[in-house]
Amino acid sequence: MRVGVLTGGGDCPGLNAVIRGIVRKGTQEYGYEFTGYRDGWRGPLDGVTVPLDIPAVRGILPRGGTILGSSRTNPLKEEDGIRRIKENLAKHEVDALIAIGGEDTLGVAARLSGEYGIPCVGVPKTIDNDLSATDYTFGFDTAVNIATEAIDRLHTTAESHMRVLVVEVMGRHAGWIALHSGLAGGANAILIPEQRFDLDQVCAWVESRFKIRYAPIVVVAEGAMPKDGEMVLKDGSLDSFGHVRLSGVGEWLAKQIESRTGQEARTTVLGHVQRGGTPSAFDRWLATRFGLHAIDAVHEGDFGKMVALRGTDIVRVPIAEATAKLKTVDPKLYEEIGVFFG
Ligand code: F6P
Repeated sequence: MRVGVLTGGGDCPGLNAVIRGIVRKGTQEYGYEFTGYRDGWRGPLDGVTVPLDIPAVRGILPRGGTILGSSRTNPLKEEDGIRRIKENLAKHEVDALIAIGGEDTLGVAARLSGEYGIPCVGVPKTIDNDLSATDYTFGFDTAVNIATEAIDRLHTTAESHMRVLVVEVMGRHAGWIALHSGLAGGANAILIPEQRFDLDQVCAWVESRFKIRYAPIVVVAEGAMPKDGEMVLKDGSLDSFGHVRLSGVGEWLAKQIESRTGQEARTTVLGHVQRGGTPSAFDRWLATRFGLHAIDAVHEGDFGKMVALRGTDIVRVPIAEATAKLKTVDPKLYEEIGVFFG
């Protein structure tokens, strides 16, 4: 048996841990061989491979990124995509594929498995934690730790200068990183894409903080929007997902706060720092378990499935279940945590 492995979409700390888990168990327990596909779906589409065996995965557990490379290529949008993938898999004698990715990569895996007879198993990844059907995705814990550390650091400089510090974190459609890092870092306001925020309320609250000589920290997810919809996007162009680029909410918010309250405000955009570098211990643990369970699914011929975390168990769910709908922050949870903190 030969298994192809690919990583698609935005990279994420823990991808290498999954690959290592798959290759070690697959080789040692099942006697399988592996073909690494380069740059997501681009690999099987163009037939670009990388060697994938025990020596290739040695030492990669703590390394961020992916040794296979990644891309946002969608073979279903390429001319003759399915035929080219089938031909390359046959040429490489690959019997099954493990696709490690987010909504888009897994969406392709679901269709290849369900409609085109290409046996695929999915592994969920995203720092955003917004994939349904799994309690957590690896990469999220690392991103939250990075954002939390940044917020901790920003408190002291904000207090020294009595400024408002706006911290923009990733999260285009879901505010999980903002919510978790904001709470862990003791932020004073957390603004998420799921709930439009009231700018007057944010400013009134900022002013009230200054009255008690307190420099506020506002955590804002990149996809958060004001209630009145007056925010002007820096750039309305579409990215490779076909999503509108939402860059600039942090900068915009700081300017609004400054002009409306007269208090000095600064913005820190954390950006890709949240996605880079070594995975946390939790993410290595989760990613390794996903890898071990994914190769078990291949061994049992359980295709069209994705491994998922439910409580402390790893289960299998139809891939389509994870990609059907994004997992966003429940308004009740947002309310429970409180938008504004003292
Ligand atoms: O999905 C992960 C993610 O990091 C989002 O939080 C972010 O909006 C997006 O990817 C950024 O994508 P890119 O690396 O293509 O700019």
